[in-house]
Amino acid sequence: MPDLLFVDSDENLCTDVCSYFRSTGMRVEYALDFDAAATLLRDQRFDLVITDVAIAGGGILDLMRRVRRQEPPPVVLINSEVDTVDEAVRAVKEGAFGIVRKPFTIPELMFHTKRALDQRGRGQRSFAQTERFTNVYQPTNFIGECPEIKQVFDIVARVARTRSSVIITGETGTGKELIAGSIHYNSERSRGPFVRVNCAALPETLLESELFGYERGAFTGADRMRIGRFEQADGGTIFLDEVADMSLYTQAKVLRVLQEREFERVGGNDTIKSDVRIISATNKDLLQLMEEGKFREDLYYRLNVVTIDLPPLRDRGHDIQLLVQFFVRKYSLAVHRRIRSMHREAMDMLTRYHWPGNIRELENTIERAVLMTEGDVITARELRLLFARRPRAADGNEDDQITLPPEGVKLEEVEKSLIMQALEKSNWVQKDAATLLNVSGRVLNYKIKRFGITHSSWRQNR
Ligand SMILES: Nc1ncnc2c1ncn2[C@@H]1O[C@H](COP(=O)(O)OP(=O)(O)OP(=O)(O)O)[C@@H](O)[C@H]1O
Ligand SMILES: [Mg+2]
Repeated sequence: MPDLLFVDSDENLCTDVCSYFRSTGMRVEYALDFDAAATLLRDQRFDLVITDVAIAGGGILDLMRRVRRQEPPPVVLINSEVDTVDEAVRAVKEGAFGIVRKPFTIPELMFHTKRALDQRGRGQRSFAQTERFTNVYQPTNFIGECPEIKQVFDIVARVARTRSSVIITGETGTGKELIAGSIHYNSERSRGPFVRVNCAALPETLLESELFGYERGAFTGADRMRIGRFEQADGGTIFLDEVADMSLYTQAKVLRVLQEREFERVGGNDTIKSDVRIISATNKDLLQLMEEGKFREDLYYRLNVVTIDLPPLRDRGHDIQLLVQFFVRKYSLAVHRRIRSMHREAMDMLTRYHWPGNIRELENTIERAVLMTEGDVITARELRLLFARRPRAADGNEDDQITLPPEGVKLEEVEKSLIMQALEKSNWVQKDAATLLNVSGRVLNYKIKRFGITHSSWRQNR
């Protein structure tokens, strides 16, 4: 497990960060000022230091020098407010990994932390860092006890020992990526890299160079050689997400990697060998696509040595309650709250709902419910706001009216809830959400910042 040092003069923030990160299995120490941080750095080894740019009792650059005395030096992430950003940039020039803007939510910080550690893993293969991620994909983080999920766990345990290709199917948000990760991190390759590629996110030519890399001069703008994901994943696992969205041409190239374990970079003649395990995922019907001639049959059989089909959340019975408890705990920690439970009526609402977006939707709902709840119990009232749909008036005329509930509402909460719904509906593309809400992109962006709404896809810089 990675050892993290968190430096910030806000003690509440420190203890909240600690308990959240510890709940994922990391070991965390915190320091409130420069001297405390320096002492910890002298006496203990850390993999990662997350520090505010303004440290009481010393300068950030001085702290960076202390950090660099460790061998291998820990990764440093800088937290900064807008007005200290120049100083933060200087720290990055001195070797810090990146800057996280304050205010941040703790899950957001976790996201950056993982990315920083991941990056370090890539740069230093010998550094046995993959173990640190095992936890994210541990069964303890995969909640479920229903028979179908138990069966999934069995398959995961069995295939983890092999190098067979696996296809994971299931509706959106059912946990396909989580399962892919658990297979990798429980396999013999767990010390190798786990490389994710979303085949739907890139147009064909970009996907090809992403997967296979390119040689210098392969196309305009290719001013240096770049290795691709298959090469990066050597000795580990590549996760081809949304695999049905690959073009037939790319499918042929992937097939060759599966059959011969070799390929060429785009614009190159040298044959590159790579030993990777392929796990793929899709929520489309590959058999249907095969019939339509859009997916190669030979590739399908190669990828599909083992199939794991994840059931939708509505078919998982009592698991929904376990997941609710898990997410309430996770998100109340993240926002410095101590929410103990869910009111019975609220739990009933959650179990009755059909969850088209599955666990992701449930997770988002709980996250928002936690934010809206003021007491220590989440009630049906908070959920009702989240589930709010336009009332269908009998004559159809009042269709665009939103009715005020008798007990009144908090306008800000309603606004935030509608913004979240618009973002979800438009796949977190702010421009489309702005259109749905009839405001300019700038206005929406302002509100997003004000409400502290974030989404991981906004940071994956592509
Ligand atoms: N059984 C589970 N226990 C806890 N968290 C889960 C579980 N299943 C999924 N999640 C969480 O739900 C979210 C969605 O999961 P994931 O990204 O793996 O879904 P997916 O099937 O890949 O979705 P998509 O098809 O939309 O890409 C993630 O935050 C994941 O951590
Ligand atoms: Mg996914």
